[in-house]
Amino acid sequence: MPRVSELFFKTAIVFLILGVAAGLQMAISGDHGAFPAHAHINLLGWVTSAIFGGYYALNPAKAERRIAVIHYGLYTVGIVIMLPALYWMLAAGHPEIEPVVAIGSLIVAAAVLIFGFVVFSSSETVRSATAAPAR
Ligand code: HEM
Repeated sequence: MPRVSELFFKTAIVFLILGVAAGLQMAISGDHGAFPAHAHINLLGWVTSAIFGGYYALNPAKAERRIAVIHYGLYTVGIVIMLPALYWMLAAGHPEIEPVVAIGSLIVAAAVLIFGFVVFSSSETVRSATAAPAR
């Protein structure tokens, strides 16, 4: 598996553990006020990171590009800023932290645009540079 896929999956499982813990906390306490944070931890942190990892595993030529690591770094920094702040804002009732959520969200959005670029860009240049010369 390409290194960037491994990184995405390791990050994803950490967020699944945190997302499930937040879900259990809500279910046990009976206070569902932080459900949007729980949903985003699971969907941005677990599901989307795992899909990114799976995409790079299926496209190893693209996984070797520097932009794949930039995508991983930016996306992960974004969700690490956004999700704990969102949880803190909703679970503990701290609306003043919303600008931090906004900054994290914008970083996540930028990383998603980078992924869009990766998906639409051709992997031909990488493949032809590494392929054996034709006879
Ligand atoms: C042990 C695991 C989990 C527990 C105990 C749990 C618990 C909960 C609870 C108590 C709510 C609030 C429901 C409400 O008030 O309407 C909720 C909402 C939600 N959960 Fe989970 N959850 C778990 C795992 C997951 C996972 C793995 C995902 C996604 C991959 C997920 C996605 C969502 C979403 C999207 C909502 C919002 C649903 C809505 O809009 O009503 N949950 N969960």
